[in-house]
Amino acid sequence: MSKRVLFAVLLMTLSVIGHCAQPMIELTIGGKTQSFSQGALLARLDATEIRVPRDVAYGTSTTYRAVPLANLLDGAAFPADSVLEARATDGFAAQLPMDLVRNRDPATAVAWLAVEDPAQPWPNLPGKPVSAGPFYLVWVGREAASVRSEQWPYQIAQLTTQPSPSVRWPVLAIDPALPATDPVRAGQSLFITQCLACHRLNHAGSADTGPDLNVPMNPVEYFQPAALHRYIRNPASVRDWPGRTMPAFPRDQLSDREIDLIVAYLAYMVHRKVGQ
Ligand code: HEC
Repeated sequence: MSKRVLFAVLLMTLSVIGHCAQPMIELTIGGKTQSFSQGALLARLDATEIRVPRDVAYGTSTTYRAVPLANLLDGAAFPADSVLEARATDGFAAQLPMDLVRNRDPATAVAWLAVEDPAQPWPNLPGKPVSAGPFYLVWVGREAASVRSEQWPYQIAQLTTQPSPSVRWPVLAIDPALPATDPVRAGQSLFITQCLACHRLNHAGSADTGPDLNVPMNPVEYFQPAALHRYIRNPASVRDWPGRTMPAFPRDQLSDREIDLIVAYLAYMVHRKVGQ
């Protein structure tokens, strides 16, 4: 075969391999990226069957083949208060505190990266035409139930270490002089956990899913207070359509008091708009 023919064959082979490529998950720690395929993760020695008694995405008890997330983060040094950003294929981006994702003590909550086996596909998510796969972060351990709903990212494409959101995006910040007990502080922290995964605020955040909740207008400027509370509890109870994406938050994920704290943070941020 001539060199030219050989080259053409090589190119065709590469493009065939490219088409059959399995979905990959990218793990970036301190700027260094590694990619893992489903097959590579499923074949790891630390991959094992786990049972998730209260699976947030499926709403039932489930079992998975999964890898302890702490093992994938092993050996790396992180600045204090870093987070692990989990980006999903649909633009959802959770900010997971590093001490939470690196914990191995089953007396609290332990994170596992569940990997869908292409030979045994997972069922579709309730009300959705897709499964949580190929990569889904689940929690087991005695306090798994205390891990908030938006800290169970599914269809993950990338896991990346980042500075904590208030350091990375100073426009989310509140006045440092506010007392530790100020409700706005608790509201900010809940907002970062439960809302920033889909919404930006003051253009800050990584998510592309929902609208910015401060600019150009903040919902407290155009929602009546009772309707806003009701919308956050269950958006479909205010307005609904087939393409609606915002989920309802059951009381065990956000109490009425916690919704009020988030609204207090939103109301506070009206006076701190930037970059209009
Ligand atoms: C999984 C993604 C997701 C999460 C989590 C989420 N939202 Fe949303 N939200 C959306 C999307 C998408 C919309 C646009 C309407 C739709 O498609 O449902 C929206 C709309 C809204 C609106 C209406 C804005 C308008 O002007 O119509 C408000 C208010 C809101 N979200 C507040 C919140 C708050 C507060 C939280 C946190 C407790 C939150 N959302 C969590 C995705 C999300």
